[in-house]
Amino acid sequence: MTGHTITITGASGKLGRAISEELASRVPVSLVTLGTRSPESLQAFGASGYRVMPVNFDEPSSVEEAFRGAAAMLLICGHGSNETRIRQHMDAIDAAKRCSTGRIYYTSFTNPTKASLFPFAKVHEASEAHARASGLRYTFLRNNHYAENLETALQRAHTSGELSLPGARGKVAYIARQDVAAATAGALALSQVEASYELSGPEALDLFEVADLASEAWGRKITARDMPADEYRSLLIARGLSPFAAEGQVGIRLASGAGEYGEITRNAEQLAGRALRTMRQYLHTFSRETLTEPSPLGRV
Ligand SMILES: NC(=O)c1ccc[n+]([C@@H]2O[C@H](COP(=O)([O-])OP(=O)(O)OC[C@H]3O[C@@H](n4cnc5c(N)ncnc54)[C@H](OP(=O)(O)O)[C@@H]3O)[C@@H](O)[C@H]2O)c1
Repeated sequence: MTGHTITITGASGKLGRAISEELASRVPVSLVTLGTRSPESLQAFGASGYRVMPVNFDEPSSVEEAFRGAAAMLLICGHGSNETRIRQHMDAIDAAKRCSTGRIYYTSFTNPTKASLFPFAKVHEASEAHARASGLRYTFLRNNHYAENLETALQRAHTSGELSLPGARGKVAYIARQDVAAATAGALALSQVEASYELSGPEALDLFEVADLASEAWGRKITARDMPADEYRSLLIARGLSPFAAEGQVGIRLASGAGEYGEITRNAEQLAGRALRTMRQYLHTFSRETLTEPSPLGRV
């Protein structure tokens, strides 16, 4: 596709990098601008032909500079309090408007409503509303839970034999981050695109079913437990999370238990143009790449 220039914000994050890599097989990378607060960390992408530019939501001129002339702008949700992120996203959308950007793409979240039990859903609700009101064309990529969100709980389960989180009984259509990236790159490369996509994984599982799959992957029994929210909050605070971040983690699990993330769609598979990773496949990769088993021979 020629002339379809794409600017990505937050390009040095895990999702941003993965989307940038996935774009390489879909569009000429010379048409892709990677915006980041740390351009030096993306030197390898620059050497491969991408344009790398400084972009910081807190410096509106940097945002405007990177969006100028872009047919598509992908706004990857940043970090910070709800108020900070809502302001940052609104400013970035306003900058896109000043630059007459062809279409705003936004990495939203499943069920972006004020009523959600996930406190960060308000960021997505407000950002979507601002994009709708901007008069620009928009596409919301509503990401379901990344499978990677289970990483710490799975590491604990590998040691203790118990997979334990609040909301354990709720089904969640987990999706691997790389599949979100492939679907997002697919949407950015399309010429006919919808106003919103629900990006879910291929199956919806509760934690008891994930524990069964972990038992199968690790060859020993892993049980699941519905951890009380207060116990989880204390665990997160003890691990060093701020009260705000802990509330986000507790909230997302309570929303999971309430069934907010159980819907399976084929959007991600269709946009990615390939089959999505199942939880069984994710667990095998996780076991191979993340778990560090002590060698029976000691350190070698
Ligand atoms: N659906 C899910 O389950 C799920 C899970 C995790 C995260 N998320 C969301 O997806 C986003 C990306 O996830 P990730 O795993 O890639 O997180 P990450 O590696 O921590 O990346 C965070 C991103 O936020 C950007 N950012 C932070 N402050 C910024 C600012 N002032 N201006 C511009 N960009 C800023 C960073 O951009 P630079 O460093 O390049 O400037 C970075 O790319 C997260 O921010 C979060 O909202 C969703």
